[in-house]
Amino acid sequence: MLESGCANRQSLPLSQSAGDAGKPAESRRWSCMSRRHCLFFVLAFGTLLFLYNARNPDMSSNRSSSWLSHYNTVKWRIPYKRPGPSAAVSSSVTTTVSQNKSEPQTLAPYKSPGPYLVEYPYEYHFTINEPYKCEQQKPFLVLVVPVAPHNRAHRNIIRSTWGGESLDQDKVVQLFFLLGRQSGEGAEQLQEQLLQESKEHRDLIQSDFLDCYKNLTIKTMVMLEWLDAHCSATSYAMKIDSDMFLNVPKLISMLLNAPKTNYLTGLVAKGGVVLRDPKSKWYLPASIYPYPQYPRYALGLGYVFSLDLAKKLVGASRHVKAVYIEDVYLGLCMKHLNIPPTDPPKWGYFQVFPVRYSRCEYSQLIATTTDAGLDRVWVWNDFKKPGKYC
Ligand SMILES: *[C@@H]1O[C@H](CO)[C@@H](O)[C@H](O)[C@H]1NC(C)=O
Repeated sequence: MLESGCANRQSLPLSQSAGDAGKPAESRRWSCMSRRHCLFFVLAFGTLLFLYNARNPDMSSNRSSSWLSHYNTVKWRIPYKRPGPSAAVSSSVTTTVSQNKSEPQTLAPYKSPGPYLVEYPYEYHFTINEPYKCEQQKPFLVLVVPVAPHNRAHRNIIRSTWGGESLDQDKVVQLFFLLGRQSGEGAEQLQEQLLQESKEHRDLIQSDFLDCYKNLTIKTMVMLEWLDAHCSATSYAMKIDSDMFLNVPKLISMLLNAPKTNYLTGLVAKGGVVLRDPKSKWYLPASIYPYPQYPRYALGLGYVFSLDLAKKLVGASRHVKAVYIEDVYLGLCMKHLNIPPTDPPKWGYFQVFPVRYSRCEYSQLIATTTDAGLDRVWVWNDFKKPGKYC
């Protein structure tokens, strides 16, 4: 269980249909009886395919693409921009099979990874970036807040509350918001506004994956890639949701006594049961993850980690199927690395159910979810007033 607990790309069936569950050896049956048979088969098939494509370029895309594109998207994700749905239908797979020089390079038809896996690893690109800020100021702690592109209100609240804490106990803290790309109506206008907002605050990072709930795993992995690439002198990072209250001084105090490597903490779930009811928000079928329980993982509302883990987790993600449940996925990657998440030094530092505000209560926790109706700016101003907490 320890070794195989991690959803390994090779050991798990790739198909979503329940009928395929538990048949990972299927592909092995295709191994040829003898090498000569095999070579002959490949040559014959290749010739046929070539002739077929040359004669009938339009139809070939639809016919032969299903398994080829599957193979392509699964094994060698092609680092080109994904074609839109219309392009996918008409594009041909010939370039990936017979590198025909006279033909312009065409894209592999898009194949969705299905509802329970996300498009990762994949070469996403940053459309808004702050590539130097972290390297220049060398913060002790970087706060990354995943937020929807349109949610400027949340960003402003965070900037004027805990996100505005740039120095505490002589430690530099930096805040970044991480967004995906918006699609549909008004997307262009929103992008203009984002560029303006970025100019103003210099705290936006945007990647070109589609921003939606089901893609949170992509967001987190892009965050790790970004931290690894741009924050080499930083000790710790925290991913924290935009509706949280964060006690920055308490967090820094905890980190000053924390391990410097292989460290990830938060509200650690143990023995988390895999939800098999298709109506559940976090449903995962056995064909994707066959075990009844997840390994330990820190709940996604807010977790802190030593920066060395950014690179290690990105590395691990190459071996672990990217399930859409973001915090579970990090747990699976941690399991692959054999690094269990650490419990915080005190129970109650991280709260998943909103704690009612009082100066005393909030002074003793690090992060809590907040009720939607709470005036977080008022709370913050009250919390920051000098004087005794309890
Ligand atoms: C997630 O992002 C990818 C890459 O941008 C996109 O193709 C996919 O449609 C998105 N998923 C959902 C559920 O929107």
